Amino acid sequence: MQKNIVSLKIEEIKGDSMDIIEKDGHMTLRMKSGFDAHAHFRELDQLFFTVPYSARQFACAVAMPNTFEPLTCVRVVILYQRSAEKYGQENDQSFRVIVPIYLTDEITPMIMRTAHAAGICVAKLYPMGATTQSHKGVTAIEKLFPVLSVMQDLDMILSVHCEVTDANVDFFDRERVFIHRHLSVIAQKFPSLRIIIEHVSTKDAVQFVMDASDRIAATITPQHIMLNRNHLFMGGLQPHNFCFPIINSAEDQMMVSRAIFHRRFFLGTDSAPHGKYQKYYDGKGGCFTSPYALELYAHAFEKLGALEILEDFSAIRGPDFYGFAPSENMVQLTRAEGIIAQERAIGAHTMAVPFLSGHMLNWRYDAAS
Ligand code: DOR
Ligand code: ZN
Repeated sequence: MQKNIVSLKIEEIKGDSMDIIEKDGHMTLRMKSGFDAHAHFRELDQLFFTVPYSARQFACAVAMPNTFEPLTCVRVVILYQRSAEKYGQENDQSFRVIVPIYLTDEITPMIMRTAHAAGICVAKLYPMGATTQSHKGVTAIEKLFPVLSVMQDLDMILSVHCEVTDANVDFFDRERVFIHRHLSVIAQKFPSLRIIIEHVSTKDAVQFVMDASDRIAATITPQHIMLNRNHLFMGGLQPHNFCFPIINSAEDQMMVSRAIFHRRFFLGTDSAPHGKYQKYYDGKGGCFTSPYALELYAHAFEKLGALEILEDFSAIRGPDFYGFAPSENMVQLTRAEGIIAQERAIGAHTMAVPFLSGHMLNWRYDAAS
């Protein structure tokens, strides 16, 4: 019988190299450098600004391919991966980037085989119109089946943005409907395919992963554990809390928060920087979390009584699902209050507002070693 989260003991799941040290009234947390399984770096000169935010905090990041010109062909994926990695390595030589290939209606089994041969281990499924730069996304999931079959044979990972886009489906039900209408079919048809539900936001999706086999996992963002949909409207419309999938009900938030204790849920910031005017005038979805990622998770985990599993969640489970060894590098956080900056640069002339800007966090990221 499958274990559910409530029956898991913390000792079964915590990382083994993590130290929580209390000395002279100061608390520090030392743990392995993490794996951000979901980040957006954007493109061109923006990489110079966006990649270092992640490289400073993480050993490795999966950089999503929904760039201005989506990364749909093998050569472009490889070039982007090298370029992003180079910008990160100016900060830390050992920083690694993984880039999924973007799935379109035109993708073929042959292209997927070529991608695999070139070292690409993951493909991203965006339903057309679901989020930022998803205009080239998939219009009919069934058309992908021959490609998914090849991915299953090659043991590749399918990373999924789980939202339907039908205008008659309530916005807050987009993820639930996708899970029941599409993901359950994919999982049944391709039982050995490794699947990641990205930025899980509803209790239905959490339950789906828990009931599924070890081949199915999910990433969790800071915003989906810290907020519920009241935070979209309280004190006026809050554009910096708006993302896809939308922050959902308090009950959904509670289920996502509980899921952090389960070993098939791991860190994926979905850090999605947009220039502040794009946020205000174009209503772009995305929370810019990378500059304070570990501080946000540490703050939230402490409130959930889960600090002891932070290393497991951030540095062990993600690489494990991808089939990589965890990083040998260590990071340190100190329990000290700090205020999130009002703005950070994401381009030579573009500023973005970090998620929870102006709020106080209880942890400060110190250093990597
Ligand atoms: O809120 C989001 N923003 N969700 C996504 O899936 C994409 C991201 C972006 O790229 O802006
Ligand atoms: Zn994303």
